[in-house]
Amino acid sequence: MSAFNRIPLTSLENAVLPIENASGLPNVMYNDPELFIEERDRLLGTTWAGAGFAGDLPTPGYVKPISFMGLPLVIMRDRDDVIRVFHNVCSHRGMVLINEEGPVQGSIRCPYHSWTYDLAGQLKGTPHLGGVGVHKVDSFLCEKHGMKEVSSAVWFDIVFINLDGKAKPFETFIAPVVERWQPFLGDTGYTHMRREASGEGSFTLNVACNWKLAVENYCESYHLPWVHPNLNVYSRIQDHYHIMFANEFSGQGTMVYNLADTAGTRLPVFPQWQQNRMKEAEYITVFPNVLLGIQADHTFAIVLEPVANDHTVEHLRLMYVGDEAIGPAYKGCRDATLAAWKEVFGEDVAVVEGMQRGRASPGFSGGKFSPVQDNPTHYFHQWAAQRLIASAQAMGA
Ligand code: FES
Ligand SMILES: [Fe+2]
Repeated sequence: MSAFNRIPLTSLENAVLPIENASGLPNVMYNDPELFIEERDRLLGTTWAGAGFAGDLPTPGYVKPISFMGLPLVIMRDRDDVIRVFHNVCSHRGMVLINEEGPVQGSIRCPYHSWTYDLAGQLKGTPHLGGVGVHKVDSFLCEKHGMKEVSSAVWFDIVFINLDGKAKPFETFIAPVVERWQPFLGDTGYTHMRREASGEGSFTLNVACNWKLAVENYCESYHLPWVHPNLNVYSRIQDHYHIMFANEFSGQGTMVYNLADTAGTRLPVFPQWQQNRMKEAEYITVFPNVLLGIQADHTFAIVLEPVANDHTVEHLRLMYVGDEAIGPAYKGCRDATLAAWKEVFGEDVAVVEGMQRGRASPGFSGGKFSPVQDNPTHYFHQWAAQRLIASAQAMGA
């Protein structure tokens, strides 16, 4: 029996109901290791999921192996600076090809029998394939046995992948966000985003919770006064509003984000950010696993790496506006910005881990939503439940 059948259909139907009547997703979707893999194939793998950052591959020829919910993949930057993603497995006997990130000199060489591939994944060398000293065999067509590519796209420095190759084109998928953020980023904002070359401006959090709890917590501002007392000074709960759009994005925004005043920092701002909206900031989850934040003078992106049903790694990258902003003159401003976000996301760890532990309890079954505060979280549950119901119908499971 498929693990998928352990999700009661009624619990999915209840999650889709209007918020006043809805229940949250059932505990089993947080506690079951086999359902974690089902989610990879039915939820994350059928749309555009975050897999890493293009900026983590600094030079042409750089490769970075990753594990995506148990799948060995590799992100590669080819000699022409194009980012691609492949299954990290040799076409011969299935050896994992690349074990360490770094620049590749020449070709990618399988450690087992030394088959070689170029950075476009093409199989180039098959030593002794036809016997010692015979490297080519007429009936063996190298062009048919390259590395298997995964659909990918880069936006906001994030490497997105679509595992099943059937999602809508990435540009169509992300267009509603680009449109929403026109008043802030305009057309040029993306080209101004800069990461610190030193590798500062990033951090990683290991969290003992299901990836969905990290999303759910990110979607709401309800917890601000109690979990983030400092943030609630420069970005108060009452200045926040909900964001929900295009069925694939939700989160929250604030009319007044005042870190610059609080920390005394004055970083360069996006050139097209509307003058009368300088203090506004928005925090959006790109379902399933990418969390974005934009302020006039910096942005961040978090890729949630789901490792197991109860283990998620949060990878955060901060970006500033233009080359000057990452120079020495602004080091103090950047340090203050990084410290502020480290504090905020560090404060969230205890609550998402507490919710994960709570899902072991028979005294909880999805929970109830505040009809006023929890709308973006419910929107995410609706997204997940609707997709799983459709998947069950399509697969007859
Ligand atoms: S498994 Fe890669 S060359 Fe044999
Ligand atoms: Fe939080």
